[in-house]
Amino acid sequence: MREPHETLTFGVEGLDRLFRGLMLPAHHLIVIAGHPGAGKTTLASTICYANTLRGHKCLYISFQEDRDRFLSFMDRLGLNLRSAEASGLFKFVKLPISFDIEGTVMMLNKLLSSDRFDVLIVDSINALLEVVIDNASKRSWLQNFFYSLPQVFKGLVALIAETPYGLEKLELGGIEFIADAVLLLKHRVEEGFLTRVLEARKIRGAPVTLAEIPFSITEGKGFEVWLPTVLEEIGREGGKLHLPCNLLKKTLDHMHRGQVVNIVYPADGECIDSLMLALGIVVQNDLRAILISYRYPPESIRESIVGRLVIQGIDGSMAEKIVNKYIVFRGINPFSYSISQLTARELSLINSGDFDAVVFHGVEIPRHAVESSRHIRELYNQMNYFRERGKLVIRIGAYTSRLSYRLECRVSDALIRFRYSNSGMGKVNYRAFIWRRNEKPYIASSEEINECVDEVIELVNTKLAVTQHPA
Ligand SMILES: Nc1ncnc2c1ncn2[C@@H]1O[C@H](COP(=O)(O)OP(=O)(O)O)[C@@H](O)[C@H]1O
Ligand SMILES: [Mg+2]
Repeated sequence: MREPHETLTFGVEGLDRLFRGLMLPAHHLIVIAGHPGAGKTTLASTICYANTLRGHKCLYISFQEDRDRFLSFMDRLGLNLRSAEASGLFKFVKLPISFDIEGTVMMLNKLLSSDRFDVLIVDSINALLEVVIDNASKRSWLQNFFYSLPQVFKGLVALIAETPYGLEKLELGGIEFIADAVLLLKHRVEEGFLTRVLEARKIRGAPVTLAEIPFSITEGKGFEVWLPTVLEEIGREGGKLHLPCNLLKKTLDHMHRGQVVNIVYPADGECIDSLMLALGIVVQNDLRAILISYRYPPESIRESIVGRLVIQGIDGSMAEKIVNKYIVFRGINPFSYSISQLTARELSLINSGDFDAVVFHGVEIPRHAVESSRHIRELYNQMNYFRERGKLVIRIGAYTSRLSYRLECRVSDALIRFRYSNSGMGKVNYRAFIWRRNEKPYIASSEEINECVDEVIELVNTKLAVTQHPA
């Protein structure tokens, strides 16, 4: 049983923070509204499930769904309500839609007094009130029965309200007047892609400045939101990171967790050295990294790094082993998502493991997929999200325009820009501008760059020796 001082939870990282106050031990009534398919059942079940994990009891009343279908559906989203049911913390009851609303409410009351529940979900209030034709009686049911429900059973009540397609208003006899919060789930099509947002319509007792919060519903992960980070809440720089070669030590000295390194190369060249530098930083500090490529399938990137190590005489399977030890490879086609869903997808991947570093590869591609002001906003928010969590970010991409280069500079703590240099023999060499925030750039020659890459390879060799012959 829930102690009176205990707070309930949304079960969605971010929502508890944003709507602090709503899940307080005070007895609240929230309305989750939206079109069919918007995610109401998913959010309500998430609230239900997360609280059963804390030992609270949840009663789920549905007028629409069959128990088995409902449980299987939620199971696929990562909500193991069957086990909560087995441990007696979750109860799903399907009530028939009846013309006798008094009878239905009586059944509901009986269920509520049969046990001590902390959370009650009614899915949906429309189904319940369907039989009440006139608005005045709907209003009277809502005011007289549901309004006092949270006080009566001393817990959280979440009423699900269906809004008709094409309409974003609730036609439920003034339900928004009796609720402490109205969360409207919307889904719309942006540039051909599904985008989901949660609109905070009314929040009592919490200062909410964000009107629309993008969210996603994914297999195994369920309901996830992504909130902009509050700058004031970001702590000091994270732990110190060392650089893998003398050139970088000399120019950048050191880095910190939570910082951003940008590696830029000419648009008509693909510089493998940039991947080697990223590998070097990761290996040097024993970080576990996830590399997300917008450009190549994950296998190709892995192969190009492994191939580069093999050229230096490292055994193929050993090279593969060491690369896999430090980096997990993923690919995302940014054109298969809307921008907010792209961000959600990335964060979902990044949060799927305990990674210390995130390497984005081919960053010029999503940059051109969206309007620039929108991109700046997403990028800025994302960098702060990582900063807050102390994840090193390495962004690798081609130079495509002065504007985007300058933008990348503004979110970077260090930048390495490869440029062609004329060797005079018709052969292309690279030189590199190496720049650390608040300082003047250093221009490194191709010899210096090669030396740096050699040092990285030496470092990998050392790690291999340790792996093969542990002390
Ligand atoms: N396994 C799944 N993987 C990804 N998306 C899913 C999965 N199951 C359901 N969804 C998405 O969740 C939505 C349904 O959510 P639901 O909570 O039932 O909506 P509502 O109750 O508002 O009608 C659908 O739009 C569907 O696309
Ligand atoms: Mg539903």
